Amino acid sequence: MKEDRVADDPPGPSSTPASRALPRRISPPMTVAVLANLKKNYPHSEHGPSDDAVEYDREETVEAICAALQEPGHRASFLEGDESLVDTLRALRPDFCFNICEGRRGDSREAQIPALLEMLGIPYTCSRVLANAISLDKMITKRIWRDRGLPTVPFQVFTESTAPLRSTLRFPLFAKPIREGSGKGVGPGSVLRTEPELRERVEHILSAYRQPALVESYLPGREFTVGILGNPGSTERRSNPDLYEKDGFHYFPVLEIDPNVGAGRGVYGAEAKLITPGEEGAPLYLCPADIPPQLQKEMYRLTRSAFLAIGSADCSRVDFRLDAEGHPNLVEINTLPGLNPEVSDMCILSRAQGMHYAVLINEILNLAIERHGMLV
Ligand SMILES: Nc1ncnc2c1ncn2[C@@H]1O[C@H](COP(=O)(O)OP(=O)(O)O)[C@@H](O)[C@H]1O
Ligand SMILES: [Mg+2]
Repeated sequence: MKEDRVADDPPGPSSTPASRALPRRISPPMTVAVLANLKKNYPHSEHGPSDDAVEYDREETVEAICAALQEPGHRASFLEGDESLVDTLRALRPDFCFNICEGRRGDSREAQIPALLEMLGIPYTCSRVLANAISLDKMITKRIWRDRGLPTVPFQVFTESTAPLRSTLRFPLFAKPIREGSGKGVGPGSVLRTEPELRERVEHILSAYRQPALVESYLPGREFTVGILGNPGSTERRSNPDLYEKDGFHYFPVLEIDPNVGAGRGVYGAEAKLITPGEEGAPLYLCPADIPPQLQKEMYRLTRSAFLAIGSADCSRVDFRLDAEGHPNLVEINTLPGLNPEVSDMCILSRAQGMHYAVLINEILNLAIERHGMLV
């Protein structure tokens, strides 16, 4: 039995009493379209940076999601999230979409497919249009968190490499493209110690990634990521109610990533993220992280606040780094966390808890079904 807890006092990690059993079947089985942008459909452009297509998904990821959805009886099939989608959705007529689309272009690309689905009136998993647009933009996300008093380091956005550096920002600094993920545009060269390094890196981001550069204080401490599943509110009607705390959320054990081990050279960028855990060059993954209970509690509290502040839904992953004093700082939120069963952080941390991949995938679907008021 779960103990009573006050709403702003998340415990954790949540236990997984039904972790090996699939959630109760939502009947009747649904036709579910798994929407993704596959790497193979976006061949590397010779004009783009080397990590151009890093965000897009591998075929094995959509195959794994389809297989997981088929376990409790759903009819699941993959549709590419591109211009053809209106026609393929009309042909398939899915009851629900499982959306992991990165989107094709534009400043809110992760919100493109959700926007299309809302226009067509088709329900889908995870965050909606606005939250996906916000979370893709690291500046807007940080502004919202800062407005809520949540800890996130000071920053400056550069749209030209010659702009003067704000006096409040001191070296070392860290630079990244303002709206990318999967470590795109991030590597050891993102750590900036001098003014020339800053100018060069900002110029690189502006020209290679064709978007502003977010420059923020460098966080020298340990790195963690926290997975959260659920939505605020009652869990009574959930297909797997015991999985959730009273506040409506399941908190996975904290995953520590040590990017000082392997190819990352201190930064968990694209190169480090793509190496299968345990293989040569991979960072060290530790789950549950060996941390004091107070730090774990604080990161769970911040994860929920970060999730709620941007209006996320169903499932997210929140990245943290410790500052020089050992305090956790919010780095970013992933409203569409990677779901590759082998390499994605969300799957590493749920597996570490003993939660079967099919349970994670079906739980995301069931949360979305419940949120849409479709539970039968
Ligand atoms: N302010 C920072 N200080 C130190 N390292 C950082 C900082 N911001 C990001 N990083 C490093 O870069 C990685 C990728 O940054 P993140 O904002 O999480 O982007 P992505 O969406 O690509 O995962 C982080 O996992 C961390 O290793
Ligand atoms: Mg990240």
